[in-house]
Amino acid sequence: MRSRTIVVGLLFGLVVACRTVQPVAYDGAALYLENCAACHGATGLGDGPVATSMNALVPDLRRIAERNGGSYPRAAVFAMIDGRAVAAAHGTREMPIWGAQFRAMEGEGPQAERDAVRRIEALVEFLERIQLAN
Ligand code: HEC
Repeated sequence: MRSRTIVVGLLFGLVVACRTVQPVAYDGAALYLENCAACHGATGLGDGPVATSMNALVPDLRRIAERNGGSYPRAAVFAMIDGRAVAAAHGTREMPIWGAQFRAMEGEGPQAERDAVRRIEALVEFLERIQLAN
């Protein structure tokens, strides 16, 4: 009986420990609706309410793989969303620099950078899921 209590206690402790150590998971779909749909549209088509006031054409985010010869370029999509490297190369980006925006939202310190990266990764995965089959 006693050892059973200990086992249950240990398991409970483990669950609590995992919950504290595990970082919050970012929900790519929710992040998308919150930050991206205004321009890219709820489904990624590029028809959000703000799209018409942009000078640049807002691309259809469901066709990234199609435009890339059928494979989804994860690293390039990450860099595009982050924008901190891309912006330096092209002077005329109209999309916000999400790497900087997310980092500012997360606050100060190295954890802020890691969390900003994790937000972008969640978005990269979300966009991969909405690619149209081609
Ligand atoms: C203010 C409008 C606006 C918002 C908000 C916005 N985008 Fe964009 N996005 C654009 C425009 C315009 C382009 C085309 C490139 C350019 O001119 O900046 C673009 C391009 C992209 C591309 C490149 C697609 C390709 O095939 O080249 C990706 C990926 C992307 N956006 C993802 C996102 C994600 C993810 C978010 C939300 C975190 C977001 N965008 C929010 C306007 C926006």
